[in-house]
Amino acid sequence: MQKIELIHTPALLPYYNLQDKTVVVIDILRATSTMCVAFNTGVNKILPIASPEECKMFKDFDFIIAAERNAMKVPGFDMGNSPFEFENPFLAGKNIAFTTTNGTKAIKMAKAMQPYKILIGAFLNITALAKLIQDLNKDVVLVCSGWKDKYNLEDTLFGGALIDKLLPNFEMEDDASLSAHCLFLQYQDNIESLVRKSSHAQRFKLLNVQTDDVSFCLQQDLYSFVPEMEGEYIVNISSAQAC
Ligand code: MLT
Repeated sequence: MQKIELIHTPALLPYYNLQDKTVVVIDILRATSTMCVAFNTGVNKILPIASPEECKMFKDFDFIIAAERNAMKVPGFDMGNSPFEFENPFLAGKNIAFTTTNGTKAIKMAKAMQPYKILIGAFLNITALAKLIQDLNKDVVLVCSGWKDKYNLEDTLFGGALIDKLLPNFEMEDDASLSAHCLFLQYQDNIESLVRKSSHAQRFKLLNVQTDDVSFCLQQDLYSFVPEMEGEYIVNISSAQAC
């Protein structure tokens, strides 16, 4: 039976082996949720980038450049990291160079560890994601992006929700996945009220973020596709297959 591991933050990645495993990168608030919105809008591909300085260079190569640090849009960029920004129909067919505090960092770190496949996970596509993981039938590692290499609540809670969809065809290999599943079982009927107590939801309030990114990113199954990495880019294979 295939196994599930969960990693609370990218800082723990060196202690794991990702080779030949399906990796799901999770950044519920907000990078992986926002990436799903971008592909639903019709974005062509997303290039995850480590730093705003490097990201800005892509402006000259006909990319839309999007950068978030500390939950705020970086001045001088076309976009930040709110899912609502990526609903803009102008983005259809465009390539996005994208850097965020945690999510794009987790993607690039996982990519360097030669996994079988990297999938983009969110509540927004959770059921399609669970089906694809089962179809791939590989051991799976859930990589939470956390907050600056520290644990965050919403990514692990999502990991528990995904694990719940994978059981009993997969088995939990570690305490991190077991505790994530227990957290989900405890709060599955009150997800939003729990996440609103999280440090990142409080951060949004302190910053007076005008859009309700928390409730948007906690919606389940808005989308039935799963973005994945192809080379250095994140793409939506299912949209290509639909053509
Ligand atoms: C991110 O990398 O998505 C960050 O976790 C935070 C944010 O976008 O507010």
